[in-house]
Amino acid sequence: MIDLHCHYLPGIDDGSQSMAESLDLARASVADGITHAAMTPHIHPGRYDNIRSSVAMATNEFREALAQAAIPLQVFPAGEVRLTADILDLLEQDELPFLGTLYGYRVLLLEFPYGQIPVGTDKLAHWLLTQKIRPLIAHPERNKVVLANLERIASFVEMGCLLQLTAASVIGEFGKAVQDSAALMLERRWVSVIATDAHNLLHRAPVLAAARDWLSEHGGQAWADELTRITPARILGVELAGLSSWESVD
Ligand SMILES: [Fe+2]
Repeated sequence: MIDLHCHYLPGIDDGSQSMAESLDLARASVADGITHAAMTPHIHPGRYDNIRSSVAMATNEFREALAQAAIPLQVFPAGEVRLTADILDLLEQDELPFLGTLYGYRVLLLEFPYGQIPVGTDKLAHWLLTQKIRPLIAHPERNKVVLANLERIASFVEMGCLLQLTAASVIGEFGKAVQDSAALMLERRWVSVIATDAHNLLHRAPVLAAARDWLSEHGGQAWADELTRITPARILGVELAGLSSWESVD
């Protein structure tokens, strides 16, 4: 499987706090069946001052440590970008990190604040789309506004945004309300990617296989594969055995 959202780079956000912890998280990912992972530290100016170039350097260091420890996890630099006006500056400075490209659009893992969907979010999302940037909205099922009214996320889907759910939400680890919200989005086929959003081994461990099995049970194996492997591979630009020549679509 391929994980497009996790916080493994040490000491740069609220995820891993040391290289030893990062390596333990990587080992747990591999044990769960994950072969490739996008490093998505928070990009939140003023709180977590990570930018594309600094994440790329940290990912290179982590890659070397993984090789030394003989842990077979392929890692890629990206970021979980907080919805703020700073996105525009980062884009202009070529410091906005993307997950990759899908059908000619760069894919941006975009995080809304938990408690709200700020006024103007739809305008920013629309503007990003006009710039050939496709928001992949991180864990909408845990957003309070969406939990209260699922329709609040519908307009983003209709506009062309993609949705990424957290695997732990799908299997009920964030409670029934979040699981029900996740299930409804899945049922409506609004979801493109399931990822771990793993931060640490204690409370936010890499769990993806259990969600894949849940999806397989509720919608079939092909669907589970699409959300945990095929679409993530397309976005990341990773070629998987048995995946046909999709890349020419770009
Ligand atoms: Fe995250």
